[in-house]
Amino acid sequence: MKYFLDSAIMDEIRYAKANWGVDGITTNPRHIKTSGKPFYTVINEIALEYAGSDAPISVEINPHLTEAEDMIAAGKQLASLSPNFVIKIPCTEQGLVAAKTLTEQGIRCNVTLVFTISQAIQAARIGAHFVSPFVFWLEQNGMDGVDYIRKIKKIYQTYGYKSEIIAAAIRDGNKIAAFAEAGVDIVTCGFDVYKDSFHSPYTHHGIAIFSNAWDGTEEGDISQWKK
Ligand code: E4P
Repeated sequence: MKYFLDSAIMDEIRYAKANWGVDGITTNPRHIKTSGKPFYTVINEIALEYAGSDAPISVEINPHLTEAEDMIAAGKQLASLSPNFVIKIPCTEQGLVAAKTLTEQGIRCNVTLVFTISQAIQAARIGAHFVSPFVFWLEQNGMDGVDYIRKIKKIYQTYGYKSEIIAAAIRDGNKIAAFAEAGVDIVTCGFDVYKDSFHSPYTHHGIAIFSNAWDGTEEGDISQWKK
């Protein structure tokens, strides 16, 4: 399972790249706004950070666009800026027409804002590189995000669909394991969610116990034990 970072904040991206080795980046208009920088400035900075690597960087087309023709033009423009860019297109009928055309022209697409299993099938049918079901947005409304991913994965396996499933908008680091168990290909999480995923109070409790035990057992310089 791959780990993508869901962020457009360069400090987070650089830290995660250096310390955790994330496999890719996903951005969305909200992340761009949070970064405090204009759209092209920030996506260019992310592209430079990953230049020469094969890390996919998902960048979203203008969400005001509703017609396939305009989405295709926007997607082509974005794709021309970096070989790492994967074009994020919303899962509407027109969006899928655009994603199909771009995919046929060799431009990878990430079909985003996927909320039903039927939408996930449509995205796979047109050969989307990535499909992004937004699990937390569903869970907020009482649905089971893990079961939703499990069902999509099973259908993709049954019919041999090649699209990779990204469990998107995960809010709880401990939930990553549940999505892994459901067979998701990729998780994309915010910086703090990954931070949370390293943490267990039992580990800290154990460190305190072992620290106590350690004290007084040291025998000075290690060099005397060298063979
Ligand atoms: C994924 O690709 C999206 O950018 C992301 O998960 C959207 O969710 P959020 O903005 O609510 O975190």
